[in-house]
Amino acid sequence: MPKTTYDWRVRGQRLTQIGVRKPQPKDDVILLPSYKERVLMEMLKLGLLAGEAMADAQTIKERTVATTITLSAAVLARAQELVACGKVVIPFPTQALVPPVIEGWRRFVDEPEKYKIGWTARLKGEIRRRPSSGWTRRDGTQRDDGVYDDKKQIFHFHPLLIPWLAKHAVEYTKYTHWLHLHVPRLYDACRATARTYAAALDAVLPGYSFYDRLCEEDSECLHRLRLLAYDEETAAGKGHFDISFLTIHIAESHPGLRMGDERTLFVARPGEALLFFGEKAERLTSGKVKASWHEVTDERPAGDTSSRCSAIYFGHIVL
Ligand SMILES: [Fe+2]
Repeated sequence: MPKTTYDWRVRGQRLTQIGVRKPQPKDDVILLPSYKERVLMEMLKLGLLAGEAMADAQTIKERTVATTITLSAAVLARAQELVACGKVVIPFPTQALVPPVIEGWRRFVDEPEKYKIGWTARLKGEIRRRPSSGWTRRDGTQRDDGVYDDKKQIFHFHPLLIPWLAKHAVEYTKYTHWLHLHVPRLYDACRATARTYAAALDAVLPGYSFYDRLCEEDSECLHRLRLLAYDEETAAGKGHFDISFLTIHIAESHPGLRMGDERTLFVARPGEALLFFGEKAERLTSGKVKASWHEVTDERPAGDTSSRCSAIYFGHIVL
């Protein structure tokens, strides 16, 4: 079968993935303005620019406004399935984006505890009592109040983590590429995917402003890319609903995610991710859509004691 290319556009960059072409509509594509472009547009709004800089910012603004979201019939059909079932499998460029992220995460997990603690951050908008940015460890005994907790290491990425690390003089030379390139690229792809499906949800279930809520500044502070490394002894997680609006289960080193009452095992395939609703979606719609219950079971073959790693994205809204 002839090899051909198809494109994934992430934040204006063109990532080309080599693969066997399938007859798929051109969809799932949003061009998002970069951080620099957003800053320029904000400066334009505040009247802080003049002359050539103002003209450039105006051009950027027009281009951004013209970049409307294209929703194909395939995306709309998946959004309908999401509403009906609470979850749906979506195309996602895992092969291009995930391996360098997981490779760096595995290296990080093996760092001494003392080094990793330096990456435990608290960013703007975080209201939970425990820090939820950068690195944290849950030891399985921290919370006896019935709240979800398992033995695992967690890394939460938000772009503001980078200036936080710089401000706190955290030395991360050997993770520069990982932190500045690979992880943000995956974060941006997830953010764009969540936006696409929020817009599609507005089309199939109007009246809730999913897209606008997801894109609000207060919501932007809360989106997280989560990297997990489960405890080597258990590699499992208790059943729960996510507190997010939308969750994207991106990739995993071992199967183990079980969904719904039937506890159906979801096996992540290359080029695909699982999108499902969290509690915020159910609350916003007064139960019209349902959050998806899930758990993680240890499915490692006998004798395999390697740590189960996974990558997940949480898209939030403020209620
Ligand atoms: Fe979860």
